[in-house]
Amino acid sequence: MAHKHITITPNPGGFGASIIGANLARPLTRDIVAEIKDAWHAHGVVFFPDQDLTPSGLEGFTEAMGDYGLTEFIVPMDGHPNILELRREPEETASHFGGGWHTDYTFQEKPPAATILYGHIVPPVGGDTLFADGRAAYLALSDKMKTFLEDLRGIHSAVLPYSKEGFYGNENDPTRSLKIVPSDSAKDERTHPIIRTHPGTGEKILWINRVYTIGIDGLNAEEGKALLDFLCAFSTKDEFVYRHKWQKNMLTMWDNRRVQHFADAGFDGHRRVMWRTTTAGTIPV
Ligand code: SIN
Repeated sequence: MAHKHITITPNPGGFGASIIGANLARPLTRDIVAEIKDAWHAHGVVFFPDQDLTPSGLEGFTEAMGDYGLTEFIVPMDGHPNILELRREPEETASHFGGGWHTDYTFQEKPPAATILYGHIVPPVGGDTLFADGRAAYLALSDKMKTFLEDLRGIHSAVLPYSKEGFYGNENDPTRSLKIVPSDSAKDERTHPIIRTHPGTGEKILWINRVYTIGIDGLNAEEGKALLDFLCAFSTKDEFVYRHKWQKNMLTMWDNRRVQHFADAGFDGHRRVMWRTTTAGTIPV
C-alpha cells in the first residue's frame, strides 16, 4: 500500500517501525487508519513519538483501531474501564509488571489483536519493552519441525500469574500500585494452534509464550514441557528480538497475533506510568 499521509521508518530488518505524520489526539480519517493498520501488519510493532494524549484521547485512537478487547484480573483506571494504568512508584519493591515473555491474554477464546501502550511517565533509565517476532521465528524453523508443529495445539491458561495460588496470588507486597485480582477462573484452559495463520496477512506465526502456554495437547507433561522449553527459548532468541526504547508521550501498538513482549526492569527509584488498551481479536486458526 502507498502511504500518502504518514511517514514510516522501519527498524533495521523491518521488525518494528516508527510512524510520524498523524496526530492521534484528533479523529483520524479512514485513509490514515488504513495506512496505520497496513504498517502495523507489515512491521508487527509501530510507534508514534510525541503524541500528547489524555485517557480519552487514547480511547479515541483505540476505537479507531477496533472494538475493545476484554480486560481481566486487573482493576482498570477510574472512569475508564478499558484502560489499565500500569503504574510503578519509585519506592515500589514489588516486581515490575510484565517481566516475562508473553503475548497478551492468549488464554482467552479470542485473544486481543492489538495492544496499545502509551508512555505517560517514562523513567530516565530502564523500562524498555522487548519484542520478539513470531513470524521470523516460524520462518527459521526447519521444514521437518514446521510439519511436526502444524497440527499441534498449545494449552493456554492464566493459572501461573493470576490464580489464587499463582505468582500474583502468592505475592504479599503492599507496595504494588497495580491492583491485581487473582481468581479461580484463571485456571480455565483452552487450546490454540501452535502455528497460527495471521488473519490480516496470511503469514504463519510461531505462537506460544512462556507465561500462558502451559502444555501441548496430546503430549504428556514431560514431552510438552521439553517442546515448550525449546519453542519458548527459540522464539525469543536475540535475532528475533528488538529492544524498544520509550520516550514520554510515545504511543506503541503491537500485534499480538505475531509478537511476544517482555517488560524490562532497571528503573527502580523512578516512576513509570503507562496506559494500556487492547483491541478485540478473533479465534486463532
Ligand atoms: C505489558 O506486558 O503489557 C506491559 C509492557 C510494558 O510495560 O513495557
